[in-house]
Amino acid sequence: MRNLIATFYRLPLTQRLNKVIPAKNIYHLRLRNIIIILITVIILACITLNNKLRSENDLKVVNEEKNSRQGDWQIVWEENQEQIWDGSGPVKGLKFMVYSAYLDENNERNVIRIIALTPTKGMLPNFFCHLFTGDDKTGVIPFGEPFPAIIEHSGYSQYLYGGSFILCPIMPHLTLRNTTKPYFLALSPIREKFDGRRILPVQKIQRRRTSRENVFNFQYHFAICVQPTYRYDSVLELMEWLEFHRMMGVTHVTMYNISMGAHVSCLLRSNALKKNLDVLVLPWGLPIPSKQVHVNGQVAQSNDCLWRYRGVANYVLFLDFDEYLVPNYTHAVNYAQLVERLKTVPVDEKLNRSLPVAQFLFRSAFFGKDLAREFGTRRKLALPSTDSSEKLRLDDLITFTRTERQSFMYPAKVRSKFMSIPNQVIEPGVHYLERSEPRSLGEVQVSPEEIGFVHHYRDYLCGVRECSTLKKVTDNSAHFWVAGVLERTEELWKEVRKECNLGLEMLQS
Ligand SMILES: *[C@@H]1O[C@H](CO)[C@@H](O)[C@H](O)[C@H]1NC(C)=O
Ligand SMILES: *[C@@H]1O[C@H](CO)[C@@H](O)[C@H](O)[C@H]1NC(C)=O
Ligand SMILES: *[C@@H]1O[C@H](CO)[C@@H](O)[C@H](O)[C@H]1NC(C)=O
Ligand SMILES: *[C@@H]1O[C@H](CO)[C@@H](O)[C@H](O)[C@H]1NC(C)=O
Repeated sequence: MRNLIATFYRLPLTQRLNKVIPAKNIYHLRLRNIIIILITVIILACITLNNKLRSENDLKVVNEEKNSRQGDWQIVWEENQEQIWDGSGPVKGLKFMVYSAYLDENNERNVIRIIALTPTKGMLPNFFCHLFTGDDKTGVIPFGEPFPAIIEHSGYSQYLYGGSFILCPIMPHLTLRNTTKPYFLALSPIREKFDGRRILPVQKIQRRRTSRENVFNFQYHFAICVQPTYRYDSVLELMEWLEFHRMMGVTHVTMYNISMGAHVSCLLRSNALKKNLDVLVLPWGLPIPSKQVHVNGQVAQSNDCLWRYRGVANYVLFLDFDEYLVPNYTHAVNYAQLVERLKTVPVDEKLNRSLPVAQFLFRSAFFGKDLAREFGTRRKLALPSTDSSEKLRLDDLITFTRTERQSFMYPAKVRSKFMSIPNQVIEPGVHYLERSEPRSLGEVQVSPEEIGFVHHYRDYLCGVRECSTLKKVTDNSAHFWVAGVLERTEELWKEVRKECNLGLEMLQS
């Protein structure tokens, strides 16, 4: 067949036009070519795959893979993984998982801090840190010799897995400061080799200033970290929550997505939202069953979020979508004023005023839907949109309708929420500061109830108990902002409903 084509093309053009190849031959010709192409593709794919599976320090592979590995959990090591590397695995065993890595560089320590989930039980292998420098064009180059890592556990060790830091202490001879290139890292229990498919980019943190006061002047003033989000699609509630906190001065929000619904995802991707607020949604696909770790790996998530904002934001608030940090408006109408006000509060003797505070702690009170009848009737989403001219009303807002709260306020450390000063904190914890920078002996300052606390809007408080026996108070302090929140939410709603095809209908019961 090939000869036939070759001969054909050697003929002068006029003759070629006359000499038509029979249709049957053309069919065979095409089939043969397709088969040849298919075989070539398969062979190439096999070669590529084989290359990727090789565990040698193949730097080209590292370079190709590194971009696809950003921003979600990856398993760096599974017990008995040698068998995977031999090609005889996979083997079920305890896993070591990493999410992100931050270069924590200061006078006391130079370390790459890896956000990880590690087993709380059993013998832990010794890991080695393999460091690389380089960029996308030149590929990555090993940066010094591999060196041993340290695993540092956080709390909640009653679960099979726990949030932890894996630390790669940088040897003094590796001067990192004179280069701006990104660094990449591979963890491996073997000094001589690492898995080129499991590479983490190392994020550089702006160097902290040595400051006795909490006077930082970073790019952002207030940011929020939201715990991992699971099965959430309440788009209207989310809009209100975002707009309330934006009114308070929050400009950045970071969320961790396990399974957000389609409508919430549409809102979070919309230009209407991005115009006013910087929202980062990171994937949080845990590679283990959720019951093996405390609240979907919340310890690791709060560690990641804090380090993400270190050197970037002055204050980071840790909240969930049904929680609002509401200041007492006679003391502060936004978070900048709230922080200033809290700095003037007399502190207990344990706090040393000449040292910076690491965290402001806010107590929580429950606002239950079943405590009392709501003000008005909130509506829920109707899909698709029915009446496109319909506007939002005050009684679509939870901060307007929900005014009854349990008079009991949780004591500090129980269900409390906080605002961290990222540069003073190492581990923010879940309800109370876990670990601060050694310098910040000031630690935690609890906000007096009178100045501000967290409104936690729950649906059901009473459960089997009789609601009438629960001591409650009417608290409509959030109404101070409700007109502004409505205006902003309405504006966002108008644009998002077009983009995401949303509508409203009355909430049943
Ligand atoms: C940084 O500078 C030091 C001293 O000037 C040099 O020895 C070292 O190789 C430099 N490191 C890099 C990564 O360029
Ligand atoms: C969140 O994750 C879910 C499930 O993987 C996905 O369908 C959704 O699009 C994601 N949303 C965002 C905003 O990333
Ligand atoms: C407060 O901190 C400063 C600076 O470290 C120290 O000199 C002082 O003794 C501390 N005061 C108390 C009461 O601990
Ligand atoms: C707000 O502050 C004022 C003045 O200090 C006080 O009278 C009021 O009770 C406070 N409100 C709340 C809800 O604590």
